[in-house]
Amino acid sequence: MAEERLDVSEAQIASHWKEEGYYPPSSKFVAQANMTDEKIYDRMALENVPDCFKEYADLLDWYKYWDEILDTSDAPCYKWFKGGLINASYNCIDRHLAKNRNKTAIHFVPELEEERVQHVTYQELWVRVNEFTALLQDFCGLKAGDRVTLHMPMTAELPITMLALCRIGVIHSQVFGGFSGKACADRIVDSQSEVLITMDGYYRGGKIMDHKIKANEACDEAAKQGQTVKKVLIWQRHPGKYSAETPMVEGRDFIVNDLLKNYYGKRVEPVKMPAEAPLFLMYTSGTTGKPKGCQHGTGGYLAYVTATSKYVQDIHPEDVYWCMADIGWITGHSYIVYGPLALAASSVIYEGIPTYPDAGRCWRIAQDLGVNIFHTAPTAIRALRKVGPDEPAKYDYYFKHMTTVGEPIEPEVWKWYYEVVGKGKAAIVDTWWQTETGGFLCSTLPGIKAMKPGSAGPGMPGIHPIILDDDGNEVPSGEGKAGNICIQNPWPGMFQTIWGDRDRFVSNYFKRYCKDPNSKDWRDWPYLTGDAAIMAEDGYVRILGRIDDVINVSGHRLGTKELESAALVVEEVAEAAVVPIKHEIKGVEPDMFIALKPGYEPSEEIIAKVQKALIDEIGPIAKARKVWIVPDMPKTRSGKIMRRILAAISNNTDVGDTMTLANPEIVEAIQEMAKKFDKK
Ligand code: WTA
Repeated sequence: MAEERLDVSEAQIASHWKEEGYYPPSSKFVAQANMTDEKIYDRMALENVPDCFKEYADLLDWYKYWDEILDTSDAPCYKWFKGGLINASYNCIDRHLAKNRNKTAIHFVPELEEERVQHVTYQELWVRVNEFTALLQDFCGLKAGDRVTLHMPMTAELPITMLALCRIGVIHSQVFGGFSGKACADRIVDSQSEVLITMDGYYRGGKIMDHKIKANEACDEAAKQGQTVKKVLIWQRHPGKYSAETPMVEGRDFIVNDLLKNYYGKRVEPVKMPAEAPLFLMYTSGTTGKPKGCQHGTGGYLAYVTATSKYVQDIHPEDVYWCMADIGWITGHSYIVYGPLALAASSVIYEGIPTYPDAGRCWRIAQDLGVNIFHTAPTAIRALRKVGPDEPAKYDYYFKHMTTVGEPIEPEVWKWYYEVVGKGKAAIVDTWWQTETGGFLCSTLPGIKAMKPGSAGPGMPGIHPIILDDDGNEVPSGEGKAGNICIQNPWPGMFQTIWGDRDRFVSNYFKRYCKDPNSKDWRDWPYLTGDAAIMAEDGYVRILGRIDDVINVSGHRLGTKELESAALVVEEVAEAAVVPIKHEIKGVEPDMFIALKPGYEPSEEIIAKVQKALIDEIGPIAKARKVWIVPDMPKTRSGKIMRRILAAISNNTDVGDTMTLANPEIVEAIQEMAKKFDKK
């Protein structure tokens, strides 16, 4: 999250979004839900923090129970479950063997449909993790506390690698596979990794990509910055065959499948790690400055993601759970790997593009594997709605539960997800949280609370959100006023620090509202999320987006999301993005970019409809300077729309680096359009 959040002087945004009605979960869902006891909210009330989190820690197996639930002596760098000894690999694998040895832990779905799905049982996972751990220990000489960078695509080998590393207390730092070698290098350098683990290739859009080339780039660049990678371990996408064209570097690069032969049958006892030992780093980029390595601990993090997977995702061991995120993001760490596997679920890992080879692919996977819990992001939901609005109905699957995460979901899109994807039967949770927070902050508990489209829901049990204005006063709920959403208390899933930069950790997330910088009392250290939000009377929170995503038109502060949501009311619109344009009088005015659903041609009529919707839903103040119909939005690899680039095009300024985009080619197409508009 960005540093510039601290520069925002005014948090209040008028909200024009209407509150939607409630959708109660079905009685069928409630009857089987893991959590239906409303008293959990009382048990985990603010006055019961931190002791209430014992309930979560008790879902895990400990070698030694902790002495102190929360050590605040170095606030706001907290230590959870101090004195406890635990191992994450043991909790995700070994402890399930007695009952679930033959159960599938991971369904790996290759992108090409002609390649068979791999089903890795818990027993097989245990064997493969043990052998790989032996290799890491013996061949690489790795030990607890070392850092290893991973740059792996979505395959079963990725969680195998993570679980092998944490088995001996090595801290993993997985870099999203779609990122460049340079991005990987920056993270290698920051974490001082001497070992890089990667794969030769993976499938994307039907073709095998040479991924090994990025390892070479990463090592070269890291060396320039003074960090030598001594060993590169390369998994083979097709074991026994090298799928990349980039040559191996003698003495540095090693094929995992060749080395592994020396470790067949080897077993490595999990290392008993202190609860507060770091489990992994997850880098997240602000818009300025170098990426921040969010450091997550072992016991606290694992307890939090296990409990939230159980109560919010409603995972039972017999469920087939599919989270479509990439493991390279926090969602994948918490809710593909650690949470689901700690609960002995079957977790689906899909290699490729959700719409490859056609718009029905996701629903075929769901049907064929019997997926009953589905988890994705609004960007994917909008894309699926755009390319195949009628596809879900053609497949025979049943979702009891669905999740949305990553950005606010427009009520129109929520309703499509509910009616068409969930066939009106699934309970939906809209989970609001961050890389930094490890797990969910706001969401409904699906067996207890009704859903409300567009609202994430109340604070999770034990999470106590508060909306503060710029002076640190609480913005009361129910008044339709927005402010900075903060969390009043620590919780076990929160990150421990920014790797190697405690000052940045404190100044970015706590300084703003800290009551006393010398205090050892957590009550003095509210956590600043950097998001703007509104709390309704019922305590449900509506996230408006990053504080810096606010547009100020003639003194009226409009959230980009509310403008975009208004445009999505128009039938033909699939996606919308708003950017501020400088205007002499109004300060700024909005430019609206829209992409259409298939089958619709751009027309003046659609543009007029969008303008009307902005006026009807929000007011004349929201009318756009211009509505652009674009073939697609520039998006990051994780699917977030890059408004910065659209804004640069609209404002005629430099678009900057577009290489991190998933679709850099779209930028030129939009620039061409803009030139034509300027000539008019
Ligand atoms: C946004 C992803 C609205 C928010 C887990 C947050 C959301 C940022 C939601 C973190 C949601 C995430 N509703 N906004 N359900 N979930 N966000 O670190 O602005 O990739 O601060 O973590 O995404 O993104 P990150």
